[in-house]
Amino acid sequence: MHVSHIDLNAPKAQLYAQLAEELRALIAGESDWIANLANASALLYHSLPNVNWAGFYLLRQDELVVGPFQGRPACVRIKMGRGVCGTAAARRTTIIVPNVNEFPGHIACDSASNSEIVVPMIQHNELLGVLDIDSPTQGRFDEEDRQGLEAFVEALIA
Ligand code: SME
Repeated sequence: MHVSHIDLNAPKAQLYAQLAEELRALIAGESDWIANLANASALLYHSLPNVNWAGFYLLRQDELVVGPFQGRPACVRIKMGRGVCGTAAARRTTIIVPNVNEFPGHIACDSASNSEIVVPMIQHNELLGVLDIDSPTQGRFDEEDRQGLEAFVEALIA
């Protein structure tokens, strides 16, 4: 089993570079998508400071269905265009919500969540689902998180 060498106190950009590298090592040679998503969610949840939910919603027919994650049990199905996840999926673009209480249609799965980032997973122009990370702190996610997590998703679906 791969042993982690992540410096949790590193500056954000450096932490994300380490996380992408760690992810590549974790999924190297493994083609099972669910196994890789499960390890990816555990890696994020235990390495990113100040997060209370990290995981995936996967596109099944025309809606998102919860996939591997770490955190409290979550809503299972989200329609395209609904909530932060469904909006990011429909727009195929990353969405950062500094205060979830101000996002129209936000779906509250865990009342501890106050800010959120959702990154779509797109492979060969096909939407596979989204990566969703929640934090109890307002304004937790910024441009560095967006870049770092988009690179993480790229490494995941490469
Ligand atoms: N808040 C999300 C729903 C998923 S949970 O946060 C895990 C949304 O509005 O799409």
